Amino acid sequence: MHYLHSYHAGNFADVFKHSLLCLLFEALRKKDAPFCYLETHAGAGVYDLRGADARKTGEWRGGIGRIWRQRAALPELAGYFAAVQELNPTLAAAVDLLRYYPGSPAIARALRRAQDRLVLMESQAEPHAALAEYFSRERHVAVHAQDGYQGLTAFLPPPEARGLVLIDPPFESPMEFTQALAALRTAQTRWPTACQILWYPIKDRAPAQRLQRALIESGMRRILCAELCVLPDDVALRLNGCGMILINPPWQIDAACVALLPRLLDVLRVEGPGRTRVEWLVPE
Ligand SMILES: C[S@@+](CC[C@H](N)C(=O)[O-])C[C@H]1O[C@@H](n2cnc3c(N)ncnc32)[C@H](O)[C@@H]1O
Repeated sequence: MHYLHSYHAGNFADVFKHSLLCLLFEALRKKDAPFCYLETHAGAGVYDLRGADARKTGEWRGGIGRIWRQRAALPELAGYFAAVQELNPTLAAAVDLLRYYPGSPAIARALRRAQDRLVLMESQAEPHAALAEYFSRERHVAVHAQDGYQGLTAFLPPPEARGLVLIDPPFESPMEFTQALAALRTAQTRWPTACQILWYPIKDRAPAQRLQRALIESGMRRILCAELCVLPDDVALRLNGCGMILINPPWQIDAACVALLPRLLDVLRVEGPGRTRVEWLVPE
């Protein structure tokens, strides 16, 4: 296992994933009843953009570095930007003052309410230690050093009826698409009232298309697909875009994605027109 998210934190793919996460949290917050957020591949929680790994790739400059300047035009992402601001109290318009980037657990921390719970899994020692330290004084947050796929059977269903499962693997192994699909099915079966989401990379089209065909044939219902490509998706060796599968998403998330993604693309595109997609793979 070589993957370290610290090289990629805050890049366009994180902006896409964390923006959608923000829309989902805002939808969950509309009802008072508590919700549970469970994440299988949580990472370190917070990333230092001036650390050696982030400086080596500079990927964040094409992601949060661009979108931060446009935040006034994206009011539906106010919760996401507030999570960034909280970690960087002196940050205003000058994006060079941006130092710390919130991973998905830190965004969940910012957007959950006192009655909501987080269950976070991370299998690698170093990011797990950072995550455990970050949440060491938080109530209603459980951080587990364990395989996220196995954790789904250990922790689902939780007592809460409402909630969200995020599956965000590193996709280093060619088997990861298959494992992730099985994980979606496990999460859906064990906690059908929740929403399950999977982030996936788009290098060339084939693996993502195979995943989508398998989902269409899976028997599961209410499967939404959202994608954002900042480069033409024909060079298999680079990350051209990414997508999110949302099973049983909150009402009107499709419309919110349709409204948001073209505006994200305008800011994040690298070469050519890029593309976005929001489509129900399987309706009700
Ligand atoms: C893409 S990163 C997660 C980023 C995080 N979700 C975010 O958005 O801030 C994937 C993480 O999964 C961890 N990981 C890899 N295999 C795992 C497994 N089987 N179970 C749990 N964590 C795993 C890696 O160490 C890495 O920190």
